[in-house]
Amino acid sequence: MTKTITVIPGDGIGPDIIDSAIKILDKAGCDFNYEFVEAGLTALEKTGELLPEATLAAIKNNAVTLKGPLTTPVGEGFTSINVSLRKQFNLYANLRPVKSFKGTKARYDDIDIITVRENTEGMYSGLGQVTSADGNEAEAMSKVTRTGAERIVRFAYETARREGRKKVTAVHKANILKSTSGLFLKVAREIAKEYPEIESDEMIVDAVCMKLVMNPEQFDVIVTTNLFGDILSDLCAGLVGGLGMAPGANIGEDCAIFEAVHGSAPDIAGQNLANPSSVILASIQMLEYLEMGDKAKKIRAALADVIASGDRTTRDLGGSHGTTDFTQAVIDRL
Ligand code: NAI
Ligand code: MG
Repeated sequence: MTKTITVIPGDGIGPDIIDSAIKILDKAGCDFNYEFVEAGLTALEKTGELLPEATLAAIKNNAVTLKGPLTTPVGEGFTSINVSLRKQFNLYANLRPVKSFKGTKARYDDIDIITVRENTEGMYSGLGQVTSADGNEAEAMSKVTRTGAERIVRFAYETARREGRKKVTAVHKANILKSTSGLFLKVAREIAKEYPEIESDEMIVDAVCMKLVMNPEQFDVIVTTNLFGDILSDLCAGLVGGLGMAPGANIGEDCAIFEAVHGSAPDIAGQNLANPSSVILASIQMLEYLEMGDKAKKIRAALADVIASGDRTTRDLGGSHGTTDFTQAVIDRL
């Protein structure tokens, strides 16, 4: 039976880069049906809702979604759509791999790091958000649970095991955030014992930032809480050539959403300038999740070849071509 994938083209550069990914999936011979639905600003303008019921139903029914970036209107009382989606579908694991490609403007050429970010708790739990009546005091609650910490740390080790990785580094700030980060670290140490064949390391988040910049090759799999994971994964994207090169998978028990790490890039939207690699790489993650590893390899090789040759790459990669030329270059190699 042909698998149906839910597709959310999204806002800003979203529709262009999603179109690119789908053309490439089709050319690679992936026999998918696509159910297109809307979310974000595009949906708000049409339906009055950021996350229409039909979109939620499609995400649930098809279990696998490929999603473009969504714009969350700022200062209008809307909660982030991405945060809502992750919570609503209990997409507790955010898997953000970065890998060096030859031909980018990145400073390093031997990076292969997977950040496993807890996706539902911590500083992004959304709990206890209060601003005082005079607007001069604000507070928010960070929540870490044993269940939440256990499942994300286990997910990181299982990922390491499946991908033949050597080391998992638990990143925390337990020296200051004694309760929340402390619980996360305690659980990480416990779970580490279940995986004696994998080296386990732990490190404080600020030191990780410095080491990622100085000597990133020492990192393999990083597992961390929500806020640190958000920040570190962008830092990691910078190590391999920027946000245009960074995909992310949001994975839960029953469904998964694959997306770019970056946002809707309003500054370059509608100008055919976006690098579609992030979403192409997200679709590669999706193929791996669907156990279609051969197709994933094929697309990765074609993409790597286009970037290495530099003949039809986008501006952020040092080239002078648009999204459509870049996409066609990948298709030509398939
Ligand atoms: P952004 O990630 O959209 O853009 C940051 C910078 O990176 C911009 O200069 C942009 O041009 C560049 N960039 C991003 N993707 C690129 C690509 N594929 N190729 C070339 N250059 C690229 O972050 P920003 O501007 O802070 O956020 C814009 C909107 O996106 C906001 O409404 C925000 O809420 C939303 N957003 C959505 C996310 C999602 O849906 N997963 C994630 C992050 C932000
Ligand atoms: Mg982010």
